Amino acid sequence: MANPYLDDLRLAHVLADSADNLSMDRFGALDLEVSTKPDMTYVTESDRAVEDAIRRTLKTSRGRDIVLGEESGEIEGTSENAERRWIVDPIDGTSNFVRGVPVWATLIALEEAGEIVVGCVSAPALGRRWWAMKGDGAHTGKSFRQTRPIHVSAVRELTAASMSYSSAPSWDQINRQGEFDALLRQCWRTRAYGDFWSYMLVAEGAVDIAAEPELNLWDMAALDIIVREAGGQFTSLAGEPGPWGANAIATNGRLHDAVMAYLGHFPDHDSVWADESGDSADEPV
Ligand code: IPD
Ligand code: CA
Ligand code: CA
Ligand code: CA
Repeated sequence: MANPYLDDLRLAHVLADSADNLSMDRFGALDLEVSTKPDMTYVTESDRAVEDAIRRTLKTSRGRDIVLGEESGEIEGTSENAERRWIVDPIDGTSNFVRGVPVWATLIALEEAGEIVVGCVSAPALGRRWWAMKGDGAHTGKSFRQTRPIHVSAVRELTAASMSYSSAPSWDQINRQGEFDALLRQCWRTRAYGDFWSYMLVAEGAVDIAAEPELNLWDMAALDIIVREAGGQFTSLAGEPGPWGANAIATNGRLHDAVMAYLGHFPDHDSVWADESGDSADEPV
């Protein structure tokens, strides 16, 4: 029996194809229109054009579904009890896009009844695309037709693990800088590949841990299902599964408990981390 989400996954690829064309057309343009949002982050004409194009196609092809996009918020579908919501980040890595760094992607996800069931990440300047649908594993390839399955790594020890992370805005803002620094020291290698890419590298087994401290649903929804279908684990810092928190820890699964022991909230966290003088300890005991 065909996977019930196959048509939705096909549509996600169609949306990604049009997004790729629109964004590549303006990537590197000297006259790219860039403005600054109230939170001092960039938005470009391409962020808006990609989101508008995706919304238009979804309105025609899936008019009953809700659409949530970073640039224009949530728009209700026509179904009274709509359980399906498309979640779109038109360009993840806008700061890279603006500065000519090729690490940016369009992220498209479908949520059904509170679960992410389809995810597609398209990074045309890297010549890469990753996708997954519920129960079908995770894949990469240049298009839907040229595809290979991907899987997380088999690394079991933090001392052998490679971790990609972002320090922006800051682990300090969520009161985890000490824990995060201790985790970095424990890992074999650390790199900052940034944005969606850290998580896709976990999904394909090239990196073992990815961590970002402050994210929104559209930053994470597509990444969540691709990491999970590749055999990994995706949770918030507080250990909740899924992209519903405000941050995202992805691992190959085998390392998740060890990472959470460093970073996570757990009942006796404060007593484990504070020594008698009240200063943070270097690592959990
Ligand atoms: C940003 C990226 C970045 C993260 C920011 C996000 P954007 O998304 O995902 O890695 O640190 O919090 O806002 O704005 O480039 O789509
Ligand atoms: Ca943004
Ligand atoms: Ca983003
Ligand atoms: Ca964005």
